[in-house]
Amino acid sequence: MTDLPIPAYSGPDRVLSGVQPSGALHLGNYLGALKKFVDLQNRMECLFCVVDLHAITAWQAPDQLATQTREIAAAYLAAGVDPRKAVIFPQSAVAAHAELAWIFQCVARIGWLDRMTQFKEKSGKHKEGASVGLYTYPVLQAADILVYKATHVPVGEDQKQHLELTRDIAQKFNHDFDAPGYFPLPEPLIEGPGARVMSLRDGRVKMSKSDPSDQSRINLTDDADTIAAKIRKARTDPAPLPESVEGLKDRPEADNLVGLYSALSGRTEADVLKEYGGQGFGQSFKPALADLLIETLSPMAAEMAKYAADPAEIDRVLAAGAEKACTLAEPVIAETKRLVGFWSDKA
Ligand code: AMP
Ligand code: TRP
Repeated sequence: MTDLPIPAYSGPDRVLSGVQPSGALHLGNYLGALKKFVDLQNRMECLFCVVDLHAITAWQAPDQLATQTREIAAAYLAAGVDPRKAVIFPQSAVAAHAELAWIFQCVARIGWLDRMTQFKEKSGKHKEGASVGLYTYPVLQAADILVYKATHVPVGEDQKQHLELTRDIAQKFNHDFDAPGYFPLPEPLIEGPGARVMSLRDGRVKMSKSDPSDQSRINLTDDADTIAAKIRKARTDPAPLPESVEGLKDRPEADNLVGLYSALSGRTEADVLKEYGGQGFGQSFKPALADLLIETLSPMAAEMAKYAADPAEIDRVLAAGAEKACTLAEPVIAETKRLVGFWSDKA
């Protein structure tokens, strides 16, 4: 018997990504995710969800969750995502995500989930006290992506392992249910200097919502003075900026700040160092970096404040997006259930 090649997925390109409504967004979320969303919406069909089902894997106050969901949607719009081009919706409004997640929980193996480093980080020493949802979190993420047969997923580097799991689940489903090429094996879109933004206090840990120190991150809603002060105080080593990119090696704080400058200005790191190499950080590099940040973030913060004052506008966008997303997910969940062999009166 000859080994015939397995037919590859041949459907259209489609982008899906999501952000959790679990706290204020920061510069890492902008450069790792939102900025890429804006670039992609002109090139491919895009769906961007606010992943409220993921958010409740850790406790969220019920009287704040809907507001937090609107805030993430407002951040999408303020960053430049256009609801006429991209579908913006709350995950919990499309039941097919949770439905497909259950099927995928029966496809994924415990051994696969046991390897997920984000679960280990988030559950820490109190694994027994973590929710079961936190453990199966990456399976729901696979369902978010595959319920639209999305082919491309823009995310920060911390999500790489979850995307590998998504591909494993897609492949095993296609194999187990004898449906070659049914689910695509989605590509993560991670590359670029903003894929891993580090803490301003410690260049070896990533910038994160959960860091207890607000000085460690630039929030998208920080005002100009706060941004300037945080950059002025950002940790650096005592040496001047290096003259070349190789000189950033083993200097995590310098590497992070130069990477930020590059991501925000669109210039290469080599070009940035040509201008600032040899100088102390405080001389003109840090003030220029603060200016770049303020230029990028201040208009976004103003837009977000405008939407916060008019939640009805956000609700219209989310409702229209949810309707569109349901329409797109419906045939996929129906066909998937048929492949699994569930009863249906339409068979
Ligand atoms: P989350 O807020 O955890 O839902 O993350 C939303 C998006 O932001 C995901 O695509 C993350 O990979 C991305 N992200 C979060 N933190 C960072 C960071 N420090 N650097 C780059 N991307 C990040
Ligand atoms: N796990 C992602 C994060 O914490 C959020 C997320 C949920 C996501 N579902 C997704 C990202 C689907 C991309 C695609 O950052």
